[in-house]
Amino acid sequence: MNFEYAAAPESRSVVKIDPVYGHFINGKWVNGSAHFNSINPATEEVLSSISLGTAADVDAAVKAARNAFDKSWSKLSGGERGKYLFRIARIMQERAREFAVLETLDNGKPIRESRDVDVPLSAAHFFYHAGWADKLEYAGVETTTAPHGVVGQIIPWNFPLLMLAWKVAPALATGNTVVLKPAETTSLTALLFAQVCQQAGLPDGVVNIVTGDGSTGSAIVNHPGIDKIAFTGSTDVGKLIARAVAPTNKSLTLELGGKGANIVFGDAAIDETVEGIVNGIFFNQGHVCCAGSRLILQESIADEVLEKLKRRMDKIRVGDPLDKNTDLGAINSAEQLAKIRELTAAGEAEGAGRWSANCELPENGFWFAPTIFTGVTQAHRIAREEIFGPVLSVLTFRTPAEAIEKANNTPFGLSAGIWSEKGSNILWATQQLRAGVIWANTFNKFDPASPFGGYKESGWGREGGRHGLSAYLKGSAK
Ligand code: NAI
Ligand code: MG
Repeated sequence: MNFEYAAAPESRSVVKIDPVYGHFINGKWVNGSAHFNSINPATEEVLSSISLGTAADVDAAVKAARNAFDKSWSKLSGGERGKYLFRIARIMQERAREFAVLETLDNGKPIRESRDVDVPLSAAHFFYHAGWADKLEYAGVETTTAPHGVVGQIIPWNFPLLMLAWKVAPALATGNTVVLKPAETTSLTALLFAQVCQQAGLPDGVVNIVTGDGSTGSAIVNHPGIDKIAFTGSTDVGKLIARAVAPTNKSLTLELGGKGANIVFGDAAIDETVEGIVNGIFFNQGHVCCAGSRLILQESIADEVLEKLKRRMDKIRVGDPLDKNTDLGAINSAEQLAKIRELTAAGEAEGAGRWSANCELPENGFWFAPTIFTGVTQAHRIAREEIFGPVLSVLTFRTPAEAIEKANNTPFGLSAGIWSEKGSNILWATQQLRAGVIWANTFNKFDPASPFGGYKESGWGREGGRHGLSAYLKGSAK
């Protein structure tokens, strides 16, 4: 049975959302010439009207960033830059509840995750990089310690504030100035972050935020005044950006899609593994580039794992993201829901067995029940393409070599998980897997000190840790 829980909604009165937002350029708010709505995907309620950045807006932001780089930011010592980063980190902590509620309203993710993961990790990224700002020469980077200059940063909607922190914190710590574009469905926490920059007294133009869609992103990528591009998003757009940047002097880092293998060996501790599988694919509605979206089970334990997994999935609470009891929130947009539906329909049409948790979905908003597909083969689209939703594809194996072959049989290479009680099994498997991040007996653990990035079509370069610093310094590879 499921216990009945009384509703425990977080108060939305802690955030003030303006009816219209402009861009944040040179420390000031500049209203755009055209606007689009940002909605709450759990209710479809319009939250605010956001400015659609034009090439002229991007140009103004790049000029402000260049001016700030030349006149103020590049003149400061690392220690002075670090003080600003510490200040930003502290203010983010002080305003954590506001950030968490706003992120949940705009993105649809459960408050439990925005409060306990997104916001504290974002502050942690600023703290971590604040510490490096005056120690770059001791970081052991394989580049110079000189900044590129102006960096253009384009981020996705799955971790709006956290991806901003992953991008802005290392850029500022290394002495660059920034023009950042949030994703069109989730601009609000970036705009609140702009207020934090003002509150921290950051010199005008060091951080500029231009909101908008792909056309705004493209204007950033193609602007000749930008020295480096950092992008997180789909592999298709990543390829477009790589092509646009190839004939220029711009540096580039890309953090793209994934189809992570979560491999369970016959000797794994089953109950812990089931929790890890759930965390691997249902965290953040499965809108996670490093999600464990392919479960690769040893045949000897497959039936037991699947039975326990289904029992556990029936207990996942789907619904109001602002409710502190909610495990799985809303799908971020109608477009993403359509993509999940298309791929799951393809899974059924290709003959995989579909099972969904028994849960009631709210009437308004965008929702998808936690779902698994069994009997999946390597040829199925649901084994090869990123679904980016709460959908798990299950494959099986007999020998460890077969597990590795299946895990590596993908155009991606971002993450993988291994579940086994035997250390030698884990060490052997980690050496065979072609993935940037490999978790053993856990999944989806993040730390600012740990580099993150992919092999193959999952991207170029690393973010986080000392490796991530290099990407923001002159001499880094394209
Ligand atoms: P997307 O790649 O279109 O959007 C990511 C960011 O890129 C947004 O800020 C967007 O405005 C910007 N953008 C779009 N076109 C651009 C262009 N031509 N030049 C410069 N910037 C551009 O991703 P989308 O359409 O929202 O999601 C589609 C799929 O991509 C998802 O279903 C998922 O599979 C994957 N994805 C992966 C992410 C990751 O973290 N690796 C994040 C978001 C999506
Ligand atoms: Mg929104």
